[in-house]
Amino acid sequence: MPDGATSMRTHTCGELRAEHAGARVTLCGWVARQRDHGGVTFVDLRDREGFVQLVFHPDQAEAHAAAQRFKVESVVAVSGEVRARPEGTVNPSLPTGEVEVVVDAVQTLSVAETPPFPIEDRTEASEELRLRYRYLDLRRPEMTAILRLRHRINHIIREHMDALGFLEVETPMLTRSTPEGARDFLVPSRLWPGTFYALPQSPQQLKQLLMVAGQDRYYQIVRCLRDETPRADRSFEFTQLDVEMSFVDEEDLFAVIEPLYARIVREIRGAEVSTPFPRMTYDEMMARYGSDKPDLRYGMELADLGAVFAGTGFRAFASALAEGGVVKALAAPGGARLSRRELDDLVQVTKERGAAGLVWLVVEEGGVRSPVEKHLSPDEVEGVLKATGAAPGDLVLIVADRPDRANVALDALRRQMAARLDLVPSGAWAFCWMVEPPLFEWSEDEGKWVSVHHPFTAPASDDLDPRTAKSRGYDLVLNGYEIGGGSIRIHDPEVQRRVFEVLGLSPQETEEKFGHLLRAFRYGVPPHGGIAMGLDRIVMLMAGKDAIRDVTAFPKAQSGADPLTGAPAPVSEEQLRELGIRIVARPRAREAE
Ligand code: AMO
Repeated sequence: MPDGATSMRTHTCGELRAEHAGARVTLCGWVARQRDHGGVTFVDLRDREGFVQLVFHPDQAEAHAAAQRFKVESVVAVSGEVRARPEGTVNPSLPTGEVEVVVDAVQTLSVAETPPFPIEDRTEASEELRLRYRYLDLRRPEMTAILRLRHRINHIIREHMDALGFLEVETPMLTRSTPEGARDFLVPSRLWPGTFYALPQSPQQLKQLLMVAGQDRYYQIVRCLRDETPRADRSFEFTQLDVEMSFVDEEDLFAVIEPLYARIVREIRGAEVSTPFPRMTYDEMMARYGSDKPDLRYGMELADLGAVFAGTGFRAFASALAEGGVVKALAAPGGARLSRRELDDLVQVTKERGAAGLVWLVVEEGGVRSPVEKHLSPDEVEGVLKATGAAPGDLVLIVADRPDRANVALDALRRQMAARLDLVPSGAWAFCWMVEPPLFEWSEDEGKWVSVHHPFTAPASDDLDPRTAKSRGYDLVLNGYEIGGGSIRIHDPEVQRRVFEVLGLSPQETEEKFGHLLRAFRYGVPPHGGIAMGLDRIVMLMAGKDAIRDVTAFPKAQSGADPLTGAPAPVSEEQLRELGIRIVARPRAREAE
């Protein structure tokens, strides 16, 4: 622990140990608890480094009287002598639990009002309240530990990247829209009314320009902003470890990221993960798990039942297959114990994910039980059990639909069953690279082909047919989360032109949108590739939390609003006038406030 001495204190509260016994100390901190015991007053004093017990004896009348008047969360400075705690009063759950400080002088530095919720790890305060008073919430040791963990991960990253010869280069926040697929946050320009900057969705084009600039190996721990609906693992503002390298292929990128992430898991969680990480193609992931970010800590692989039901008389399955759909299933080990109500809930989950419906089979000794039992032939039942590997006591879940819908539903069912049946081993870190994703996907909204990653991603081969082309993109998946993604880029102008053509972009449009990048590529561009790692997600996983909000110092609420500052908020008429902006829509009243 670093020396915490300053001009106002000799030590931090959390720093004192048995070897300090006999020392005279001055400490500063927050009054966490105060209790009276037969004339003696005990106070727990808190700072960032921990708690220490203070003892106030009535014979030190002034200090004792002051301690009795302490209001919790007030800031005080105390002086006294450290002593070993008397036999039987040692607190082994506290790092400072072997000592206490017998105080003889007190100075109150700031009196606190009663806080809106008690500052304790086990808090019952609502998230809204915790975010509104985040500075109080962050005093809780659990939150301090998260800030420290985040800092340590950043530190490990900087050490690793520096050792490998990467330069950290800052890129602008006021920039031009980049095609990362989300909506931009726009910033109106005062000097050029009617024009806008975009806040960066990522520094994608700038890092590519740094490669053109000959900078060879770039990284940056960088804030990115995307106006997409916030979810537990997706926020407006987030942080990337952004990386770009010249003269590389996929292997070079993986060789940078794998040891870094193995080290993060080792140093933060004390677990060994072996490298190289497994790799799986997008197609294989979709076939086996119905997802491009499968949780590989447990099995429950999907089975394709197309062959089993090829000649079925069961209408729901026959028509799905006739329309080019699939019949896919998974077997949940031990799932036969689910109640009828829980099974009905699963049907609901399936429908909410957009699939037509769910067929379940409870596997028993000597047969199956299912609402559609009479529609299935013994051979079909046998085929299902064989394909899914289901045994008595298991639950088979079957979805027949378009492949994309069946996959989405089965992925959700697989995750739910794993959680409900306790199939997720604790302390397991299942990394996997997803490789060879499609280059293009059809956008129903836009009615055209769009890039799966971004338009600078190199195709895997000469095939640029949007229905079949694969790309040299990759994502890193950990325990069911996409924790990073990147690609080898296009550096051949002819390939870039053909990709833009598939995307339906005219030469004028490409010039307007990407002219600065394409122009740069005319002056000598090295083959290059990169990746961006979602730092909030890895911190969230390392902290054992399930929302990015839980590991961010000052997050927005799920609604996207900030209960602490009240952002977003209206601005003055004067500010609007300067920007040449008139509000035509009244802001909606916000519920949470
Ligand atoms: P991509 O858009 O895949 O790639 O983002 C990279 C990683 O960033 C994280 N991430 C997010 N985390 C929290 N909230 C969000 N809204 C959010 N969006 C993304 C994810 C994701 O894997 N420029 C490319 C990278 C490249 O090609 O080099 C990019 O940004 O963990």
